[in-house]
Amino acid sequence: MRCLSTLFVAFSAAALLTSCGAGGDNQGTEYAPNMYHSVAYEPYSQIVDEEAGRWVTSIEYPNGHAEFFNSNLYNPYHMNMREPAPHTVSRNKQGWLPYRLGKDSLAYAAANVKNPLDSSAAVIADGKVLYETYCDHCHGAKGKGDGKVAAGGVKIDVNGEEKERSTYNGVANLTSDALKGVSEGHIFHVITMGKGLMWAHGSQISPEDRWKIAKYVKTLQK
Ligand code: HEC
Repeated sequence: MRCLSTLFVAFSAAALLTSCGAGGDNQGTEYAPNMYHSVAYEPYSQIVDEEAGRWVTSIEYPNGHAEFFNSNLYNPYHMNMREPAPHTVSRNKQGWLPYRLGKDSLAYAAANVKNPLDSSAAVIADGKVLYETYCDHCHGAKGKGDGKVAAGGVKIDVNGEEKERSTYNGVANLTSDALKGVSEGHIFHVITMGKGLMWAHGSQISPEDRWKIAKYVKTLQK
């Protein structure tokens, strides 16, 4: 009995030591190999040997390959991920193409860029919420250019006395005669790129939301 257990220990030790012999392309014995070799497509870990992992499972794969094989036979160079076709333009999550006009193209945008949304009550209601989030504090609830930021904050000194008012100068009155007639493309472009003292909001507000705001601003200008 003692002899048997000695043999067993010696055998296990030998197995343990030899299995650790990794090097070059040989990673040694793997515990739970499915954790390393994904059966799913992986762009960066390609296993092109169709026999790899035949011993792990008895599953019959339709193309006759073994468990670890994970390369796409139909792509060139055993690539799983294909490069996009030349000149492909990526869309944002909502499926919109990027807005390519530069900041100085306001006149062009005003004349040519059209709002793809309709004037439904739902769009205008969304536009109102968005306006109140992004524009109200400067342009005011009715677009008169009298938001809290435009009015400015009061600086109080140590004695509790009002010292000075710091104003954000020149916030436009969106209902003025000069701005009443601007197109929705104009408003969209100004929101996207900013103008003068107004900062660009293109990185914060999605294109769809910018068009909703433009719709709502038009209702303020009526
Ligand atoms: C930080 C304050 C501020 C915020 C926030 C702001 N604006 Fe303005 N906006 C301004 C100022 C200042 C001007 C005047 C720009 C100039 O002509 O120098 C202006 C101008 C405009 C104009 C007139 C552009 C023109 O052709 O003269 C429009 C339209 C406009 N803003 C829409 C918006 C909308 C819509 C939002 C919300 C997404 C918004 N603004 C957010 C400060 C702001």
